[in-house]
Amino acid sequence: MATVKDKLISPVAEGPKVPNNKITVVGVGMVGMASAISILGKGLCDELALVDVMEDKLKGEMMDLQHGSVFLHTHKIVADKDYAVTANSRIVVVTAGVRQQEGESRLNLVQRNVNVFKFIIPQIVKYSPNCIILVVSNPVDILTYVTWKLSGLPKHRVIGSGCNLDTARFRYLMSERLGIHPSSCHGWILGEHGDSSVAVWSGVNVAGVCLQELNPDMGTDKDPENWKEIHKQVVARACMALRMMSS
Ligand SMILES: NC(=O)c1ccc[n+]([C@@H]2O[C@H](COP(=O)([O-])OP(=O)(O)OC[C@H]3O[C@@H](n4cnc5c(N)ncnc54)[C@H](O)[C@@H]3O)[C@@H](O)[C@H]2O)c1
Repeated sequence: MATVKDKLISPVAEGPKVPNNKITVVGVGMVGMASAISILGKGLCDELALVDVMEDKLKGEMMDLQHGSVFLHTHKIVADKDYAVTANSRIVVVTAGVRQQEGESRLNLVQRNVNVFKFIIPQIVKYSPNCIILVVSNPVDILTYVTWKLSGLPKHRVIGSGCNLDTARFRYLMSERLGIHPSSCHGWILGEHGDSSVAVWSGVNVAGVCLQELNPDMGTDKDPENWKEIHKQVVARACMALRMMSS
């Protein structure tokens, strides 16, 4: 007997066999879900895949997103702990990571996360050999290098989030001081994400006006306005995030 669907729809052509613009997010913790929601909110993909080792959480997050589909443009949201679900991804965002245990050194944590990546990265490449991998897990710069080595992908297809978050925070804190929207406040935080990052004071500007020309002591200890403080706040936030990861 013909179903309602059969009566309603007469296919005139076969649907696409592979998605055009599939994105995978590995790790459905706080960062993974924030990434997934941003991707969906901007309508960046036609299919979103989620992967995690915690099956119940993974299923719950997938269902929450699927049930919000009425507000989204992405028509397919899938999840599984098996990486087959990620096949044919254009971009894979890696936010998975293990937490630091009590008394464990940072070095040991790096080693444990490298071990996690030794499993994750070959699986990603197996199912999506042409993808771009975007690494977010901390320590992000080390894990980005590890990903590049493990994946065998050309270097332009392995990208770490680096100091992007630090730069965004810096621009926001700048905007707070100046009362100008952050999109008009420019500056870069460079180096390794975290406490050794560097603020490029000579490049800090608003609409092309170099702030160091208005205040030559900007960024130094002699600065009466103590602009250096906003970079300290950026570093403190990055370190706090790392500590929260370990708590
Ligand atoms: N680069 C940045 O700017 C930046 C900013 C914030 C957080 N982070 C980092 O992002 C990572 C995620 O942060 P979070 O707050 O979402 O952590 P979280 O603990 O909430 O989530 C981590 C997720 O990874 C999953 N996971 C663990 N091992 C896995 C594996 N082998 N395969 C698949 N999934 C696995 C866990 O089950 C969990 O759901 C952390 O490493 C954090 O430090 C980076």
